[in-house]
Amino acid sequence: MSSYQLDVGLGERSYPIFIEDGIMEQIGADLAKRDIASRYAVISDDHVAKLYGSTLMASLEQAGVQAELVTFPRGEASKNLQVFAELSSRLAQMGLDRKSGLIALGGGVTGDLTGFLASSYMRGIPFVQIPTTLLAQVDSSVGGKTGVDIPEGKNLVGAFYQPKAVYIDTAVLTTLPLEEFLGGIAEVIKYGVIRDFEFYCFMERNLDAILELNPPVIQEMVHTCCRIKAEVVAEDERESDLRRILNFGHTIGHAVEAASDFSIIHGHAVAIGMVAALRLAVASGLCKKKEAGRVATLIHTFGLPTEIPEALDRERIKAYLKTDKKTIGGSVFYVLPTTIGKVIITNEITEEQIDAVLKR
Ligand code: NAD
Ligand code: GLY
Repeated sequence: MSSYQLDVGLGERSYPIFIEDGIMEQIGADLAKRDIASRYAVISDDHVAKLYGSTLMASLEQAGVQAELVTFPRGEASKNLQVFAELSSRLAQMGLDRKSGLIALGGGVTGDLTGFLASSYMRGIPFVQIPTTLLAQVDSSVGGKTGVDIPEGKNLVGAFYQPKAVYIDTAVLTTLPLEEFLGGIAEVIKYGVIRDFEFYCFMERNLDAILELNPPVIQEMVHTCCRIKAEVVAEDERESDLRRILNFGHTIGHAVEAASDFSIIHGHAVAIGMVAALRLAVASGLCKKKEAGRVATLIHTFGLPTEIPEALDRERIKAYLKTDKKTIGGSVFYVLPTTIGKVIITNEITEEQIDAVLKR
């Protein structure tokens, strides 16, 4: 059905990922063939619903798949327990039962919220991901992390709950604002640095084609990211070990994002966090300065930030570092590259080294 297909290997819970430009119109026909649910609620934010809701609903209707569209206001502010409760009530009012399923049509907010809803509605019903941001296509729609934010922190309530299938239509990226696209690119570069030097070189070689959204190049890029994520998740679904490498750039990145009161969007904060982690790796003697510089140059050339803005309070960043979700027993763990394509995880970073990186 698509040019690129792969599987997330999790035994009985394995699922396919389909990647193709324009796949949205074929989703109904494919879902009709799969024995996932008797009927669906399609959950989408109001912006994505306007852009792609009718194409998806038409595709489902043509294939005889019973479905109803349910929307919520777009943005991270909706990823909370109140919207979760409102959507739960809506599903109950629609009469969705244990045989029903959910379809997440949208970015990471929609996917995380819908996945969590699926994990708990009727104690668990199946769901399908149709990610529409680059970040969701290469990261959040694959791997089963679902959840919502609470006032005490982002993603603090949730569940590991895998979808039944992921349909990635790369054509929808044409309507994505550049800032959001670049946020996804930060996560894409991350995959090359943590696990695949060849792919990292592909990103360097194809920078112009990627920014021009050349379809074959974008499909290959998304496919490689999903392949790497699928491999990591298949080996360590619950993040007890290997999956932690996906947090490269996220320790300092999350602290920068929070200290900016979320005015710096996630992917851009991750870009800053990756450069900071590379500098820590150089300062610890783990990575050559030239290699770190090469990655920082690529990040910068794509148009992503590499420096922590002067105006951000360094003490606030340090305070957020200490309360990071990835902190274990009071130790902050960092994912640090030893070369492009390989990383180690360490908690042997001194406060002086952190201060030096934050000072720049
Ligand atoms: P998002 O879902 O809020 O989407 C960003 C914006 O883009 C929204 O305004 C949305 O309406 C709009 N949009 C989406 N697709 C579009 C399209 N094709 N064209 C035009 N506009 C479009 O945010 P996001 O960046 O996709 O995801 C961020 C969320 O993902 C965060 O909550 C983060 O915690 C979560 N996340 C989860 C995981 C995971 O493993 N579950 C991983 C990374 C991030
Ligand atoms: N986004 C990190 C993970 O899925 O583990």
